[in-house]
Amino acid sequence: MLFQSDKPVDNRTLDQLAERAAALIAGAEKIVVFTGAGVSTESGIPDFRSPGGIWDRFDPDDFTYQKFISSASARHRQWQLLWKERLTETVKPNLAHHAVAELHRLNKLDCVITQNVDSLHQAAGVPEDKVFELHGSMRRVVCLQCHRRYTMPEVKKRLDAGEEVPDCEACHGILKPDIVLFGEMLPDEVFSEAASRAEHCDLFIVAGSSLVVYPAALLPSYATDAGTELIIINLSETPMDQQASITIRAKAGEAMSRIMQKLAGK
Ligand code: APR
Repeated sequence: MLFQSDKPVDNRTLDQLAERAAALIAGAEKIVVFTGAGVSTESGIPDFRSPGGIWDRFDPDDFTYQKFISSASARHRQWQLLWKERLTETVKPNLAHHAVAELHRLNKLDCVITQNVDSLHQAAGVPEDKVFELHGSMRRVVCLQCHRRYTMPEVKKRLDAGEEVPDCEACHGILKPDIVLFGEMLPDEVFSEAASRAEHCDLFIVAGSSLVVYPAALLPSYATDAGTELIIINLSETPMDQQASITIRAKAGEAMSRIMQKLAGK
């Protein structure tokens, strides 16, 4: 039975859909939550493909791994235009992150598989070993030559002091946040573990992802191919909507906190 809403939901519809989603969550104990940039927009971090998102303002071809390692101006663009705005300490988890952490506290969360590099799920209280960061994390910076590792706060201090493109203090090699750029492979062990979790969960929830970047976007189908029900909470359509038991066109923060209220019987 498909409970679908293909336009932003009104309050009554959201209530009904939240009720249905809560019923599925109530009967599950190995839930995988798959998130994308759409769960962090309510924390003030722009996503990529919404109107006004990152790829509305910049050309993704300028932000590939090849460009980054071969061009000083590309490195400058990446650090100054793309990453700096994501490094503000003021970024805090929002209602969507807190709803996922509540699933963990209720012993219903198997894991979070996230495309985000902002570590807001951990900041909301999901333990490190339950978060699979498919595209890496901005918390770490690595030298591509000598492999020396830095924390982002160390590097941010240098950016705040006016350094435009930080390099390695040991060998002056290229420093790169520990994230996956276009043209780079995803960390093998992370993806294969995430795929296994998707295959063996008893409910798969997608929140805030356009599901258009592969191989990450394959993961919901690992669950549905195994006969597991899929819930999609996303402001716009995704290629997996027809496979979902429930799709909710609403802000993830509002929808997920409403679902958690229904689950608590409120
Ligand atoms: N609530 C629900 N959905 C939202 C919200 C919100 N508050 N804000 C945005 N969205 C939806 C948008 O409608 C969009 O469909 O979230 C989705 C975000 O999609 P993308 O911007 O494509 O982000 P994501 O799916 O994470 O992109 C995957 O692409 O550029 C790469 O590496 C980058 O990890 C990223 C990957």
